[in-house]
Amino acid sequence: MIYVAILGFGVVGSGAAQVLADNAAVIEKNLGKKVAVKRILDLREFPDSPFGHLVTHDFNDILNDKEITVVAEMMGGSHPAYDFTKACLEAGKHVVTSNKEVVARFGDELLALAAQNGVRYLFEASVGGGIPVIRPMTNDLASNQIEQVDGILNGTTNYILTEMIGGASFDAALKQAQANGYAEANPAADVEGLDAARKIVILAALSFGTLLSPDKIHCEGITSLTLADVAVAKALGCSLKLIGHTERIGKKVLAMVSPRMVPLACPLSGISDVFNGILVDANMVGKVMFYGAGAGKLPTASAVVADIIDIVSHLGQADVRAPHFTAATDADYADFNAYTCRSCFSFANESGAAARIAAVFGAVNTVTVDGRIAFIADAMTEQEAAAKAAATGLTLAARIRVLD
Ligand code: HSE
Repeated sequence: MIYVAILGFGVVGSGAAQVLADNAAVIEKNLGKKVAVKRILDLREFPDSPFGHLVTHDFNDILNDKEITVVAEMMGGSHPAYDFTKACLEAGKHVVTSNKEVVARFGDELLALAAQNGVRYLFEASVGGGIPVIRPMTNDLASNQIEQVDGILNGTTNYILTEMIGGASFDAALKQAQANGYAEANPAADVEGLDAARKIVILAALSFGTLLSPDKIHCEGITSLTLADVAVAKALGCSLKLIGHTERIGKKVLAMVSPRMVPLACPLSGISDVFNGILVDANMVGKVMFYGAGAGKLPTASAVVADIIDIVSHLGQADVRAPHFTAATDADYADFNAYTCRSCFSFANESGAAARIAAVFGAVNTVTVDGRIAFIADAMTEQEAAAKAAATGLTLAARIRVLD
């Protein structure tokens, strides 16, 4: 029997206990070993849960239990999750996590600490919920140089955008996402793009080896988007998505999160509801897309348990391949102001607007929707985009970057 401890018995933590119990037979068949939860750390009591008797409020009950081989951290937030993870790794316990905040902020240190202590730190559930993406990027794309990653990385915001297109209000859609167990404890992290920022820095580190700070990358959420933006996107043959993007520019790394117009020909454009998609462009295989449920109790728990199974199936093996992250220095950040992409400009359809747009932007194909005149302009830098918009003298309703 392999014993596991769970830190944090919230949506994902209780899901992991459920996956291990409900799928015990298939896990034993696939692994050749039984895996069971021995202790659960949480501040609360769970008298109605079948796992309630396993709950402890004392982390030392887990840290000092020599029978516990793997600790699954699903507490969320940086502290005490980081501190408990560190203590477990130092005590020679393997750790798996769904906690993207800890991986994005401390992944370099925790991976190094795991290696020093001969254990593993796995985080499949930290990006894309139930989608296998970390392991395939680490192992199956190891023969490639990754060039660029674009992803719909937050289930809550994709759910909200989908519901809004169906006519729901932003607030009603967010409430439903919370009820479905998709949203963060503080949903501002979802709608302001911070959750996606943590995930794109993890994917950037997997791709390029450099762990950027999620606080230092360009990050916009969906709070300023309106139904008029959705209508403009549709008129221009695009859908509107919150996209995490990373690429290498010379020796530097660019990572960012912002709404994007996604042309219908791009496979990310059709991804709706709580689903996530991660499009990886690698130099040998070309484009590969990972798709599935990006949030929710059992999908995310499925990825946590996959990491537990990976660890158990390699127990006793030295030097199992692991990613290596190096903390970024200021010199590693690409200059966002020099980033170049196409943008969709939406101006108020004031008198003479078409002529003024043509005078500044040249010949562009405009559409008129909901009192706006909109078009997709050629690629330009952030500064050029701002200067050209101002030069029209028109009221800018929105500028939304295009995913190319
Ligand atoms: N709040 C996150 C999301 C949970 O909506 O994607 C999964 O990381």
